[in-house]
Amino acid sequence: MAVPADAAPLDEQVMEAGPLGAVSSATPTTEADVRLTVNGTTHRLTVEARRNLVDVLRRDLGLNGTQVGCDTGACGSCTVLMGGEPVRSCLVLAAQADGASIETVESLAPDGILSPLQEAFREKFALQCGFCTAGFLMLGTALLRQEPDADCERIREWVSANLCRCTGYSTIVDAIEATAKAGRGQPPDTTTREEASENRAERSA
Ligand code: FES
Ligand code: FES
Repeated sequence: MAVPADAAPLDEQVMEAGPLGAVSSATPTTEADVRLTVNGTTHRLTVEARRNLVDVLRRDLGLNGTQVGCDTGACGSCTVLMGGEPVRSCLVLAAQADGASIETVESLAPDGILSPLQEAFREKFALQCGFCTAGFLMLGTALLRQEPDADCERIREWVSANLCRCTGYSTIVDAIEATAKAGRGQPPDTTTREEASENRAERSA
């Protein structure tokens, strides 16, 4: 079959074809206007529709505390709070977050003073390389807000959502549990790292 002399180049025809090969005259939307309230400040941005939330937080807003581990939803290092709920920000398009209230790890210490949970992570040695820490802090923050009475088992359930390659998780659980107890007015846990390690060994024996 002869190709009409005025036919569009093949690559343009392919670009216009829909998933079943039907030619569409609709222009694909490549950008989106979004309004994000991040850590209490509202930002209006025009972003490529394909960009994910963590990318916009880090590159456009300079909030580099949120880490990107796997970029596929597996590790949780990119966890932020959206409307108070923990989400993996590598799986959320920035356009999907339009109008949402987002909290990142930077919100925990706005004046450079660590939050009680951050202090507990430091005291309990709940981080080593620290790559996963922002995600666990936001996960723990959401849990303690929603369930201030969360016990060790409940904390373990929540913590199992994210991955840590260094700590073995126990110290992360200890830190969240200590913060929960302190929030309930219970005396601070002064167990040393060695004692905590022995206690864990006894519990698992
Ligand atoms: S970077 Fe988002 S889940 Fe791993
Ligand atoms: S502290 Fe290194 S991955 Fe968790």
